[in-house]
Amino acid sequence: MLRGLDTNQVEWTPAVSVSNRQSIDVCADTHVLSSVAMIAEAAALAGSGSAAVLGCGRCGEIPLRLLNQTFDLVDLIDIDEDALVLVGAQCKQWNEKKNACQFHSADLTGMIAPIERQTGELVENTVDPIDCVEKLGVLLESTAPAFWMLPQGQRYDFVVCSTVVTQLQALVRERVERIYRRRFPTYETALLQNRSWRESAWNFARNLEDGFIAHLGALTKPRGIVYLSETVHVSWLTQLDEQSVATEGSWITLRTSRLADYLRPGDTIISARRWDWLREGREGEFWGRLYGVQALIYRVE
Ligand SMILES: C[S@@+](CC[C@H](N)C(=O)[O-])C[C@H]1O[C@@H](n2cnc3c(N)ncnc32)[C@H](O)[C@@H]1O
Repeated sequence: MLRGLDTNQVEWTPAVSVSNRQSIDVCADTHVLSSVAMIAEAAALAGSGSAAVLGCGRCGEIPLRLLNQTFDLVDLIDIDEDALVLVGAQCKQWNEKKNACQFHSADLTGMIAPIERQTGELVENTVDPIDCVEKLGVLLESTAPAFWMLPQGQRYDFVVCSTVVTQLQALVRERVERIYRRRFPTYETALLQNRSWRESAWNFARNLEDGFIAHLGALTKPRGIVYLSETVHVSWLTQLDEQSVATEGSWITLRTSRLADYLRPGDTIISARRWDWLREGREGEFWGRLYGVQALIYRVE
């Protein structure tokens, strides 16, 4: 799913420097500050009307209060109901005169429930675990998404899609793999290493990304504004000592190393930025991750 780029050594004091290349200024809240500032800039361009925050999560990188003040309607959509409840409680605490926020607990891909059902049937009816992996790959690639929109198909003046695109394919794949592992618990490695499954998962992910970014255009009114950001590069970090971490390289999480490559010819980029996001959090032998985030504000045709 991931392709290697280059090899870096990363040292960090309060900031992080990539010692064999150039020095980069990174601290843990760079990401939140950069996201909030750029979404505020995009909201000002959209001006008023309606907004949607896709995969809003806990709105950790979203200036939600500003959106509430700027727009008459702010739709917040996520599959994680607990996160929506938390954001709802926060909105109440502000005690603003206007509450424009509406919450939608939904699957943005529209494919999780059908693919879980079909995966369940397939694993029950297949005896050979390898044959099953290959059939699951075909299922993954051939199941069409039904991307979320309002029942009447209403479109928004402003759409925010902040670090969500790579998560969509990951969640669908994870749900399929979980059902497979329950049926064939000793075949986890076979699944992860199976060439045919990996190719299907890669094709599925890239097609879902293409489709979803095209769908952002369908969710946005003509001449409306989209804020799109993604963790396009990721490096897993190992700790060397109290002052430094190292990485074997950074990986591209998308089809290309430029998020802008996903836009359609009629989309006009108004602003494009990149920043590094240092995320501490132990994962096995790793100290944390360094993401290379790319963010775009663009106007749809
Ligand atoms: C990295 S988080 C985004 C963080 C968020 N923008 C914030 O400000 O905190 C990705 C979010 O996408 C949501 N997500 C992933 N797959 C989804 C799906 N199929 N439908 C709806 N939400 C999904 C996750 O639940 C999670 O909240």
